[in-house]
Amino acid sequence: MTRRSSRRTPRACLVTAGPTREYVDPVRFLSNESSGLMGFSIAVALARRGHEVTLIAGPVNQPTPKGVERVDVVTAREMLAALRSRWSTCEALFMAAAVADWRPAVRRAGKWRAKDGGATRTTLDLVRNPDVLASLTRGRRDPDRTVVAFALETGDGVRRARAKLASKGADWIVLNSAAALNARRSAVRILGADGLEFDLALRDKSEVAERLADLLELESLGE
Ligand code: CTP
Repeated sequence: MTRRSSRRTPRACLVTAGPTREYVDPVRFLSNESSGLMGFSIAVALARRGHEVTLIAGPVNQPTPKGVERVDVVTAREMLAALRSRWSTCEALFMAAAVADWRPAVRRAGKWRAKDGGATRTTLDLVRNPDVLASLTRGRRDPDRTVVAFALETGDGVRRARAKLASKGADWIVLNSAAALNARRSAVRILGADGLEFDLALRDKSEVAERLADLLELESLGE
């Protein structure tokens, strides 16, 4: 990937990071192990290059990067609302958040007590969360906006990642494995909607983030 600073145009970027939390009751939730490091590293890389960055973060323990506007959210639906209200002016989206696919059908106002279940087992009724990215793009690419999605796959996920790239209307998808969750380093494959593929061997997420920020320049070189 070539980089020519003279060709850089600042863009309004949205970056999502971290997990979402879907509450069962006031003290319990469904979530995942995402630390938010990947999304925060992308925000750092973009802001350093002069882009205007809004970082929409799930519950994480990460310092706010310099020069970045941070919006904290908790649930998938809050993340969608935060993105929607900024979508019309967004020129690039990096959707690194590990969004929960399901949420409890009911969030109990009081504590879910042991006696509320059966003697030895119980069930939790879940409903589907919106697909945040597909709701925004409506599954279509937009020539005026660059969308970089992520795909977390166990096993060989190239086929599934390509399917997500298409169904979510993304320009690029970053394929990674469960080993990337809550880790400092990551190995990824970057798949482009136009057929390009790059492999990045295991490296710090800050270095992965630099290569993802390069994608914006790669496109502007072709303009
Ligand atoms: N994503 C989203 N909304 C969801 C789930 C995922 O916007 N409810 C986004 C993620 O941020 C990521 C991409 O979609 O950029 C792929 O996420 P991933 O978890 O790999 O896939 P899912 O869409 O959840 O599909 P599956 O569960 O079948 O793997």
